[in-house]
Amino acid sequence: MIQVQGLCRSFQDSKRGTVKAVDQVSFEVERGEIFGLLGPNGAGKSTTLRLISTLLKPTGGNVSVNGFDINTHPAEVRKQIGFLTGDMGLYPRLTPREILVFFGRLAEVPEAQLTQRADALIDRFDMRDFADTRSDKLSSGMKQKTSIARTLIHDPPVLILDEPTATLDLPTARIIEGNILDAKRDGKCIIYSTHIMEEAEYLCDRIAVINHGQLKICGTMDELRAATGKQRLREIFLELLTLGEAA
Ligand SMILES: Nc1ncnc2c1ncn2[C@@H]1O[C@H](COP(=O)(O)OP(=O)(O)OP(=O)(O)O)[C@@H](O)[C@H]1O
Ligand SMILES: [Mg+2]
Repeated sequence: MIQVQGLCRSFQDSKRGTVKAVDQVSFEVERGEIFGLLGPNGAGKSTTLRLISTLLKPTGGNVSVNGFDINTHPAEVRKQIGFLTGDMGLYPRLTPREILVFFGRLAEVPEAQLTQRADALIDRFDMRDFADTRSDKLSSGMKQKTSIARTLIHDPPVLILDEPTATLDLPTARIIEGNILDAKRDGKCIIYSTHIMEEAEYLCDRIAVINHGQLKICGTMDELRAATGKQRLREIFLELLTLGEAA
């Protein structure tokens, strides 16, 4: 479903010079799979997800999403993806229900299905209590739920979620995790970044660790255990970062 090949993205920074935010990253993700992208702050996770979602252009390499190339068919790629990123604001004067309908229209969801889709998402994400309150009056967790529900309004085959549960309380995070597992059961392909190791261990079929823009490892928990000799993901993660620094 998603093939990432030799992906590179550099930034010019007046203080730091050339920053290789993503450096020769390659991996594949299948339908019905949850793929976790882990790495310390500044590792290149968000940049990788923005490249796949066509919000940024790569300086090298390529990505194919459901058969469409990000370099030659970015508009087609965007139709395949529901993308959540931390820096996407909500329209302050619109309510969650209006936001869902608005984005559904933008994504060309047939008018006859829009209300029903929005209602179903409001139910699934337990948003009934605040679905008709202006979004500038919502708490950060309520806004986050709205943003995540928004990624699903056009029922895309691919979900790309950058730290979806970062600001959420435990019960809300559970609801989001449940929805991510439902999406997997529906056959969606999900790439997901998080700093919460327990969550990655619980949700992800395969996990990749990225550091300084480079992929350090990619595999199932069992493969990561075999490669590092550690059991828990937090130990595996720290081990991979230390090895990287020693090399
Ligand atoms: N627009 C930009 N201009 C210059 N440098 C950038 C830009 N976007 C990202 N970078 C740099 O690229 C590197 C990777 O950043 P990125 O946001 O991808 O990290 P991350 O893994 O998502 O980190 P975090 O866990 O903190 O969200 C960092 O060094 C960052 O400063
Ligand atoms: Mg990030």
